[in-house]
Amino acid sequence: MIRGGNALHGEVEISGAKNAAVAIIPAALMVEGVCRIENIPQISDVSLLLKILEDMGAEIRVVNRNTVDIDCSKVQKTTASFELMRKIRASYYLIGAGLARFGHAEVAMPGGCNFGVRPIDQHIKGFQVLGGEVTVNGGMVYANAPEGLVGGTVYLDVVSVGATMNIMIAATLAKGKTTIENAAREPHIVDLANFLNSMGADIRGAGTSVIRVYGAKKLTGGFYSIIPDQIEAGTYMAAVAAAGGEVLIKNVIPKHLDCITSKLQEMGVTIVDLDEAVLIKRDKPLCRTNVKTMPYPGFPTDMQPQIAAALCLAGGTSIVTESVWDNRYKYVDELKKMGAMIQVDGKTAVIEGADVLTGAPVSCCDLRAGAALVIAGLCAQGETIVEQIHYIERGYEDLVSKLKSLGADIEYLKAPIDPEEKSTLRAIS
Ligand code: EPU
Repeated sequence: MIRGGNALHGEVEISGAKNAAVAIIPAALMVEGVCRIENIPQISDVSLLLKILEDMGAEIRVVNRNTVDIDCSKVQKTTASFELMRKIRASYYLIGAGLARFGHAEVAMPGGCNFGVRPIDQHIKGFQVLGGEVTVNGGMVYANAPEGLVGGTVYLDVVSVGATMNIMIAATLAKGKTTIENAAREPHIVDLANFLNSMGADIRGAGTSVIRVYGAKKLTGGFYSIIPDQIEAGTYMAAVAAAGGEVLIKNVIPKHLDCITSKLQEMGVTIVDLDEAVLIKRDKPLCRTNVKTMPYPGFPTDMQPQIAAALCLAGGTSIVTESVWDNRYKYVDELKKMGAMIQVDGKTAVIEGADVLTGAPVSCCDLRAGAALVIAGLCAQGETIVEQIHYIERGYEDLVSKLKSLGADIEYLKAPIDPEEKSTLRAIS
């Protein structure tokens, strides 16, 4: 429950990047030795993936709140519980990792947030170029490469984060050189490459549109610290833009935020880049702007609902264009219950700035939609009750206590998620 109207003031620490962590954990399956991973976010997607690895026979040791040791040396199983795997989209990285390490993988077709068709044809194309045979049957993906994978050149037809990462993972232990062309360039792609390189891989060019992977014989253990979450930081920036106030957002890489910073500046928000922090201040009315989502370094689709929530209170008419996903506006009907004036036509949303939003009972339909509803609640008059917050728990560590520490009037009315899923890193130990 949120009682809106408080401006945000103080400091907030950003956690490790979800979309890096959810690739690095499955990639640890290829490492024969202990990997110590630091700056892991305490979110339910991470708990699920650790459980999946544990189910496959990995030894997981929680060192402290955000550090975990993963040892997959003794893993022999090439699949895990169907029920666990199908809950999370990132379980598809176990296909690349299983093919690379064992020449075999059986993984449930990926679940995750529902915003239209989410095919994995580009992942499959990449595995096939490397010599993998892939079939999909009864909700499962079966991948085989009994003689091992062999490097090749993969041209991606669409710029896909997941396909880039999955092919990079698979190619890590393939024979010879793999080239991925038209690769995605998100910060978490560079982070996965850095993780794999620190374990003994030889991956070059991550962060550009051409990635070369020189197959290694084996990956051995090591230490790695995950980068800060670009989208979590952007969400707090959007929250300050919407609710007003002044907040120091710590543990960020300001360069990763440029695409978000420049839009918020157009809206009249003051942002100062510091070494590993950004200072954000909003003390005057917000102005309208247009936003089009694009692969990195464009404006991230994972920030589209949050900036749309802020634009609901900006003076004038804003146009938001979603160019990554077919259907990422399901949250709009919920914002309308709070008085937002938004018209959606296909991939475009036209937002007329309202004078006020009013609190209402609303329900999350996915992770970032949930964040947008919280942002709207922070600046709405009266009480907003946000339901289905297990979506938010998938990707935001301690959202409620972090916002509380900034002066927001927000509290849990009920336990955030069912007890089975509630287990965080601590419960794995
Ligand atoms: N696509 C294909 N074929 C494929 C793969 C993708 O046509 O084989 C299309 C998709 O349908 C989409 C576009 O390519 O239209 C981009 O999809 P991408 O593969 O980049 O998305 P993803 O890897 O499934 C990740 C994040 C999403 C984020 C997108 C885009 C993870 C686990 N998920 O998804 O994050 O929206 O990249 O940046 O890394 C979130 O964190 O809230 C979230 C949904």
